[in-house]
Amino acid sequence: MNVLSAIAYLVAAVLFIMGLKLLSSPKTARRGNMLGALGMLIAVVVTLTDQVIIDFTYIVVGLVVGGAIGAFLARKVQMTSMPQMVGLLNGFGGAASALVAYAEYMRFAAGGPDMAIHAWIALILSLLIGTVTLTGSVIAAAKLQGVMTSAPILYPFQKQINALMLVAVLVMGSFFIMDPSLWYLLPIIVFVSAVLGVTSVIPIGGADMPVVISLLNSYSGMAAAATGFVLGNNVLIVSGTLVGASGIILTDIMCKAMNRSLANVLFAGVGAEYEAGATTSEQRTVVRYTADDAAFILENAQSVIIVPGYGLAVAQAQHVLQEMVNILHAKGIDARYAIHPVAGRMPGHMNVLLAEANAPYDILLEMDQINDDFKNTDVALVLGANDVVNPAARYKKESPLYGMPILNVDHARTVMVCKRSLNPGFAGEDNELFYDKKTMMVFGDAKATITKLVQLLKK
Ligand code: TAP
Repeated sequence: MNVLSAIAYLVAAVLFIMGLKLLSSPKTARRGNMLGALGMLIAVVVTLTDQVIIDFTYIVVGLVVGGAIGAFLARKVQMTSMPQMVGLLNGFGGAASALVAYAEYMRFAAGGPDMAIHAWIALILSLLIGTVTLTGSVIAAAKLQGVMTSAPILYPFQKQINALMLVAVLVMGSFFIMDPSLWYLLPIIVFVSAVLGVTSVIPIGGADMPVVISLLNSYSGMAAAATGFVLGNNVLIVSGTLVGASGIILTDIMCKAMNRSLANVLFAGVGAEYEAGATTSEQRTVVRYTADDAAFILENAQSVIIVPGYGLAVAQAQHVLQEMVNILHAKGIDARYAIHPVAGRMPGHMNVLLAEANAPYDILLEMDQINDDFKNTDVALVLGANDVVNPAARYKKESPLYGMPILNVDHARTVMVCKRSLNPGFAGEDNELFYDKKTMMVFGDAKATITKLVQLLKK
């Protein structure tokens, strides 16, 4: 590699780091994304020009076909299906790393340059982690898409069998490193890793899939870094390490947001053999209000905190919601948003949704910033959110939500909940908030209800 290429790789790595830094705030996230993309463009162009490439045919075909499929999917995918899409992309990333590492081994086997000891170790790690990432991600995406049951699939000695498979891969890998003529161990390593990917994700319940996807994202980065060591490619080592580290940090943030440990998410089988108390809810009554009543109460409030959730994204009601907030502001009412870290279906889902509607960043407040304010607030308006405001998380030990910090909407003077029915949210847990004396249920699609509220508030 010449000096210019090395400098270009360094620039790309710096752009990745700056991009990640900017991604940490909604205000700068767009710029961060652009910087990261620019870094990747530089890395790809340098790699294509610096390496001695004999034939560009497959590269061009791969770029055109892969680029077209990627662009088509990115445009077509619903915002609410983004976690599945990200999951699959992680899986393909892992598979690509494993394949590239294997190709490098093939080059060696065909009489190419010698491989150093660290490259052999990295080859085994890349095959293991890359393949686990692929099959684990496919299972995670299938669970989220509802293609397979989202309930944990548990069987005796599950953890022990998984541990045994991991040890078997490492032992076979060690034998192969000591004697590379044992080539037939490689397909066995890939096969056992593929099974391990499946068996490590099936015991995890659907509600924990976002954490799993974030963890698999981290794995895909580690596989890429391992492949970087096989190839001796610095920018791949740096970018893979960045993905690995940021994925694990995000995983940690999500676990903390649910007040759970990663071990509990991965091994506790949360969500199995648990039925929410549907019967109790059927016997209770709720207070049902119309949009006219809701508009009257909002107009007479001094402070309103809006809690957006998954249903708001489904209804695509963000634009009309921001219109309503503007009207409330014009009437001198203090209206703000409270964002729960796992509201919606992906990290930052509500921030992205509201940024689309040009909601001012200074009224988008994170849970920790706003949770104490509910007790001094006239109206907590819950729009298509459910689990993130479910008080069962505070005390119901057998609930999949237990331990997750929630937004304290029940501390507000009045709670207004807008959703279509009394159905539970993602975790399948009944919500007693709906039956609270100070809760008004305004049934209907979020967009239709807010549109009506806007009309009424404009009068
Ligand atoms: P949920 O608990 O999933 O509740 C969403 C509610 O929206 C549902 O109860 C549904 O009730 C309502 N809804 C659906 N369509 C609607 C529409 N058109 N108009 C009005 N309401 C509608 O949402 P949440 O409170 O945002 O909690 C998120 C959950 O997803 C958590 O359990 C979280 O762990 C999980 N999760 C989070 C992520 C991340 S990282 N954000 C990723 C995957 C999963 P009706 O059917 O009665 O309308």
